[in-house]
Amino acid sequence: MTNEITTEKVQEALRAITEPGQSETNIVDSGQVSGIVVKDGHVGFSIEINPDAADRAADMRRSAEQAVLGISGVLSATAMLTAHNAKTEPSQQPQAQSPQGQGAPLKPAKHLIAVASGKGGVGKSTTSINLALALASAGKNVGILDADIYGPSLPRLLGLNRKPETANNKLLPIEAWGLQTMSIGYLVDSESPTIWRGPMVMSALEQMLRDVAWTDLDVLVIDLPPGTGDAQLTLSQRADLSGAVIVSTPQDLALIDARKGLNMFKKVNVPLLGIIENMSHFICPDCGSRHDIFSHGGARQEADKINAPFLGEIPLEMVVRESSDSGAPIVASQPEHPISLAYKQIAAQILSQIDTAQKPAPTLHM
Ligand SMILES: Nc1ncnc2c1ncn2[C@@H]1O[C@H](COP(=O)(O)OP(=O)(O)O)[C@@H](O)[C@H]1O
Ligand SMILES: [Mg+2]
Repeated sequence: MTNEITTEKVQEALRAITEPGQSETNIVDSGQVSGIVVKDGHVGFSIEINPDAADRAADMRRSAEQAVLGISGVLSATAMLTAHNAKTEPSQQPQAQSPQGQGAPLKPAKHLIAVASGKGGVGKSTTSINLALALASAGKNVGILDADIYGPSLPRLLGLNRKPETANNKLLPIEAWGLQTMSIGYLVDSESPTIWRGPMVMSALEQMLRDVAWTDLDVLVIDLPPGTGDAQLTLSQRADLSGAVIVSTPQDLALIDARKGLNMFKKVNVPLLGIIENMSHFICPDCGSRHDIFSHGGARQEADKINAPFLGEIPLEMVVRESSDSGAPIVASQPEHPISLAYKQIAAQILSQIDTAQKPAPTLHM
């Protein structure tokens, strides 16, 4: 059939596109286009861009989509922008406006809950997925957005490595355990670490909120990158967050970092739903007894000090890691496990907070 849309046809169309300032080579021959998916007339792909041209890349993205839309039979075209090898420092002056200049706050669910931490490796992603599952088990329609563009975890946590399909110019979330899921890790090659810079972080995050076909969500759990950089600010400014949850281990260092996160959300008027202490204590798999490996209780004290709710503690237990590593997070695979019950209790507290919250319209504080 001559009308068939092939990867080659998409590449051919994209050969008309060059990156701003790179007029000699088109984006296909320079190897910037990857992850082309074609499904029932809908085309998705990613373009790796030069981080220095990030501010101008929105136009290129539109031109690329237009070029693909020009192929006969194409119903929609969706491009994601990615970038490599930029400086890791977040930009100092994040913009209050989106690169596209669209003003209305993004709200792809009744409630958007950001999960944040001061540093990586504290169990933010583990908490996000189990919290999302616990919210779903409470009868909510739940999505999870892995916005940790520096180290996306969802493909590993869910054992998924397929590309999302597109329809009507939107990426379709991948269903797993009854959740709608989307991760930057579904779109970019997980082998090559992707380093992003300010404006790109913002446009990638905005795309994941705006250009994903989230459907009838009560709650969208957003797994943020660690720290207090552009992603946090973008989200606080561009999305209508119901609140943020901070994950922290008991160690002091992690707490100092968590405090930074707390202040950041306070500054942008995002309500703090509370603190979860992860890896709070160790349950010995042989004798079942409890050991406080790190000085325990730090998160509770910290929460008291700043008047934030303490949402609960999750012990350091092998089964948490094993279930995650096998793509079957504990709340899904062992819903009656004491740890799963702890997550569900945390979810219940969060739900009672957001259901009763009478939040004023978000204001921007720069
Ligand atoms: N409560 C826990 N008990 C045991 N292992 C855990 C626990 N929480 C997280 N882990 C493990 O610690 C590692 C880091 O967790 P992850 O959720 O990826 O952290 P982050 O998203 O903050 O970088 C993972 O291997 C995860 O399985
Ligand atoms: Mg993570």
